[in-house]
Amino acid sequence: MTCRFPCWVKALAGAALLGMSLSGALLAEDSTLAATPPMGWNSWNHFGCRVTAADVRAAADAIASNGMKNAGYTYVNIDDCWQGRRDADGNIRPNGKFGDMKALADYVHSKGLKIGIYSSPGPKTCAGYEGSYQHEAQDARQYAAWGIDYLKYDWCSASRVYKPEQMQEVYRKMHDALLATGRPIVYSLCQYGLQAVWRWGPSVGGNLWRTTGDISDHYDRMSVIGFDQNGLEKYAKPGHWNDPDMLEVGNGHMNRDEYLTHMSLWCLLAAPLLAGNDLSKMNRETLEILTNKEVIAVDQDSKGAQGRRVWQEGPYEVWAKPLADGSTAVGLFNRGEDAEKIGVNFSDIGVSGSAIVRDLWAHKDLGSFEGSFSAEVPRHGVVMIKVK
Ligand code: GLA
Repeated sequence: MTCRFPCWVKALAGAALLGMSLSGALLAEDSTLAATPPMGWNSWNHFGCRVTAADVRAAADAIASNGMKNAGYTYVNIDDCWQGRRDADGNIRPNGKFGDMKALADYVHSKGLKIGIYSSPGPKTCAGYEGSYQHEAQDARQYAAWGIDYLKYDWCSASRVYKPEQMQEVYRKMHDALLATGRPIVYSLCQYGLQAVWRWGPSVGGNLWRTTGDISDHYDRMSVIGFDQNGLEKYAKPGHWNDPDMLEVGNGHMNRDEYLTHMSLWCLLAAPLLAGNDLSKMNRETLEILTNKEVIAVDQDSKGAQGRRVWQEGPYEVWAKPLADGSTAVGLFNRGEDAEKIGVNFSDIGVSGSAIVRDLWAHKDLGSFEGSFSAEVPRHGVVMIKVK
């Protein structure tokens, strides 16, 4: 939604009433950017600091040709380790692995995709590369000139130069710098959920904010992060999302059921879907998990509601996410070590009487059920359904 006449009036009235700054008020009204959780790819989980421009081009090539673009993946995001030195005028330059950033951005755009970059409000990034400290406006202008569409802004060494109570103003400063460029740039806050960022992320211009420390490609870490998101659902809405970190699907240290749990949970959470594997080398099983359209539709649902836990007994959990068409997406999760039959009581998801159930991973209607539905769920696995 673009902010036209009535919206401006509303925003101005709101600003006057609340004593907010004009940009803050407009921001609160503007949900064009990240109207649904951002989807794309990020270099960190697989490539780490080894990432090169060629890896980024290969990721763009893969997304544009393997069905991911059709499934909604859009942002090709470079994480840490692209930075070189600043020139005599203080302009940030990419390092030798990247060379010409404008050419790289043009290439990604030529595939009908968008490109993201990474920096820190501190003097150094988490991997020790050049941060944006005291160069915020200059860096924002440089990103816009290159054609950047997304910035992940990672706290890292900012803790050495700022007091904790300055965190919000520091994040707002880069947001204002991005806004001043006139280029729409998705703003991703990364400070690991410190100071309950979900309470103030939108007011400093964040389109998404990390809620936890780093994910890793292990079931224990992924599941602790994912299942811990319960309670944050009230903070998610179009334009503003909780971010439980990037996907590990296809990186090799979880089995198929565990990756299905990862993807299902992230979609029920309305989490950003940033694939974190090597897209140029993935197998069919990984691609199928990343591109299941019915599961992705849950994540990208226009209502923008984040799911929550509606039932738990030991390691068995039922999560539900209300959808725009009045139906409910439900995940039956088995965090235990053996297969188990797990059920959802329709009364727990606000459905009375009978309902039609569809298996979203299998694309299969399962029929009409009275009062509840249950299914056998494998160890560390999931059954994901839509209840209508
Ligand atoms: C932090 C972030 C990660 C990644 C690395 C890069 O750990 O949380 O997502 O960006 O920095 O150094």
